[in-house]
Amino acid sequence: MRKIKPYNPFLITGYHSPKYFCDREKETKMIVSALENDRNISLMSPRRFGKTGLIHHVFNNISRLDKNVICIYMDIFSTRNMNDFTAIFAENILGKAEGNIEKTMKTFASFFKSFRPVLSYDPLTGQPELSVKIDPEIADKSLQEVFSYLKKINKRCYIAIDEFQQVAEYPQKGFEALLRSYIQFLPNVKFIFSGSRQHLMTEIFLSAKRPFFQSTQIMPLDVVNKKNYYKFAYEHFLQNKFTLSEECFEYTYTLFDGHTWYVQTVLNRLYEYRKDINRLDIVYYAIKELLEENSYAYHELLNAYSDVQIKLLKAIAKEKKVKQISSGDFILKYNLKNPSSINRALKKLIDNELIYKHEKGYIVYDRFFGLWLGNKK
Ligand SMILES: Nc1ncnc2c1ncn2[C@@H]1O[C@H](COP(=O)(O)OP(=O)(O)O)[C@@H](O)[C@H]1O
Ligand SMILES: [Mg+2]
Repeated sequence: MRKIKPYNPFLITGYHSPKYFCDREKETKMIVSALENDRNISLMSPRRFGKTGLIHHVFNNISRLDKNVICIYMDIFSTRNMNDFTAIFAENILGKAEGNIEKTMKTFASFFKSFRPVLSYDPLTGQPELSVKIDPEIADKSLQEVFSYLKKINKRCYIAIDEFQQVAEYPQKGFEALLRSYIQFLPNVKFIFSGSRQHLMTEIFLSAKRPFFQSTQIMPLDVVNKKNYYKFAYEHFLQNKFTLSEECFEYTYTLFDGHTWYVQTVLNRLYEYRKDINRLDIVYYAIKELLEENSYAYHELLNAYSDVQIKLLKAIAKEKKVKQISSGDFILKYNLKNPSSINRALKKLIDNELIYKHEKGYIVYDRFFGLWLGNKK
């Protein structure tokens, strides 16, 4: 089935096709090459840099070149325990590996003893959908069955598990070790583990005490290169007979430190105006619009935080980047006196992903929110 062409080439959700995906050539080559040489990958970056998009792009490339390889993507963000994991894992692998749902149901009957498939039909499209019921008492048995199945299909298989850091928070203590041991004995299957929660991902893959230590090629994902991004943006404008000045692009890219989704969102707006983008005030206008649209949500969000937390958040937003929260200048400038309450506030803001700890300092994680806060009194 051919995909419908988007009206605006600057997508802000999902992945469409290589045409609407900017650059990432080096990264794509690296991942493809790792998989083709039997190495698993762990892909890490802050949210909205483009990990999920890159995985789809890699799979799109591989599937076009080699029809025999099975590429399976799954997102485990919503999972809270081994049960949830096993259900999502089984549904994705079975649905994809068999090609059609009738075959899948047959496989189930003959192969899986420990869990039941449930077939339902989407009320809108009539498409069959597969879900599975796992018995929590024997979830490890079910997981083992899916892995034996993967081994049995005897085809080359690439599996991406997105938001993988979730496994670190499952109550089942031995889960990582269990998973690692299954993965180790599957020569035909390679994995991409992707995640945004920096400290959990580093713990899982870089701590010598953990089962996944040294079992993957670590790949930190940076932002898209500025020159390549401008070329991509400019060409899409040109295809519609409009121009985008380097100055306007540069301003946008720099304002968000190249953070992909934010740059992309502004480009989507600029393109919407269907005219030459050659003056900075058009860019200011687009950004002002975006912040105003979100203003209600930002007010709501702040309601959940204490005065100290908000004060610290605003201070960081105004500075844009803060190297050291405890530095005298910063504390003095924003009147943040009580160090222990500031530390508690900082921890809460980081845990809730309002603040991100970058190697260059602390920033407000959501770039639009940061701009909005920075403009507040
Ligand atoms: N290389 C790219 N070219 C164009 N748009 C991109 C690119 N990478 C990401 N995006 C856009 O940014 C959004 C967020 O990217 P995503 O892959 O979901 O980030 P992450 O998984 O790191 O949180 C995507 O929905 C897409 O619209
Ligand atoms: Mg993602």
